[in-house]
Amino acid sequence: MRSKIVAGNWKMNLSQSEAKQLCKEVNNMNIGSGIEVYIFPPMLYVSDCKSSSTVVKVGAQNAYPKDSGAYTGEVSMWQLKEAGIDAVLIGHSERREYFNEDHTLLKQKLDAALFHGVKPFFCCGEPLEIRQDGSFLKYVKNQLEESVFHLSANDFEKVVLAYEPIWAIGTGQTASTEQAEEMHAAIRSWVEEKYGNTIAENTSILYGGSCNPGNAQALFACENVDGGLIGGASLKAADFSVLVAEETWTILN
Ligand code: 13P
Repeated sequence: MRSKIVAGNWKMNLSQSEAKQLCKEVNNMNIGSGIEVYIFPPMLYVSDCKSSSTVVKVGAQNAYPKDSGAYTGEVSMWQLKEAGIDAVLIGHSERREYFNEDHTLLKQKLDAALFHGVKPFFCCGEPLEIRQDGSFLKYVKNQLEESVFHLSANDFEKVVLAYEPIWAIGTGQTASTEQAEEMHAAIRSWVEEKYGNTIAENTSILYGGSCNPGNAQALFACENVDGGLIGGASLKAADFSVLVAEETWTILN
C-alpha cells in the first residue's frame, strides 16, 4: 500500500514568527487517518520547525550532494540528516530554472539523500510549450530516466515522486483530473517497467500545481494521484487544513 501524502512547500515565504505560527497550526490540524503530512519551510526555519513538530514531518527545499567543504552558502544532505530532518525536495522546477540544476546534479543529490537516509521528494514536470507540442510524456520520462532510474530497487522504494507541470505552478491553472491522471498513470507504468509491479504500486506520486481546497478532492480521487505537493495553499492554515482533512480524501474515493 502506498502512502497518501500532503506536503507543503513554503518556498521563500514567511517571516520567522509567521513560520513558527504556521508550523504550530499545521501540527494541530485534524489530519485524516493514514495521511502523512510534510512541511518544507525555508532552510533558516527548518530546524526550529522540526523541533516543534510533533505530528508532521519536516523537510528542506534543497541540499547539496557533497557532505562538507568549501561550498559557501550550501547545506549538505549529511547536515540535514545529522539535524534530524526527514526529507528533501529534489528537482523542483524553480531550482532547475533559476539555479540551472541539471540532470547530473539532481542525480547526485538523489544519491546523497538516499545515502544519508533523508527521504527524497523528486519533482518532475513539463513547461507549457512541451505541454502544447504534445511531447510531455516523453519529456517527463526523460527527466526520470536521466536522474532517477539509475537507482537500485532498494533505493528507489524510498523515493516519493511529484509531478508538477510548470504551467500549473502558481498560475491558478490546475491540471485537469484527466491530465493529471494520464501523467501519473504513465509515470507508474514506467516505474513498473523498470522496477516491477510491487514497487510501482507502492510508489507515492504526488500532484503539484495550483492545488487548493477547491480542486484537491477531485485530484486526490484519481487512481494514480497519491496526494499533493502544495505551494500557495500550504501558506494558509485554513486552506492547508482542508487538504489534509479526512473528508477531502474519503468522499470521492
Ligand atoms: P502552487 O501550489 O503555488 O502552484 O505551487 C506548487 C509547487 O510548486 C509546490 O512545490
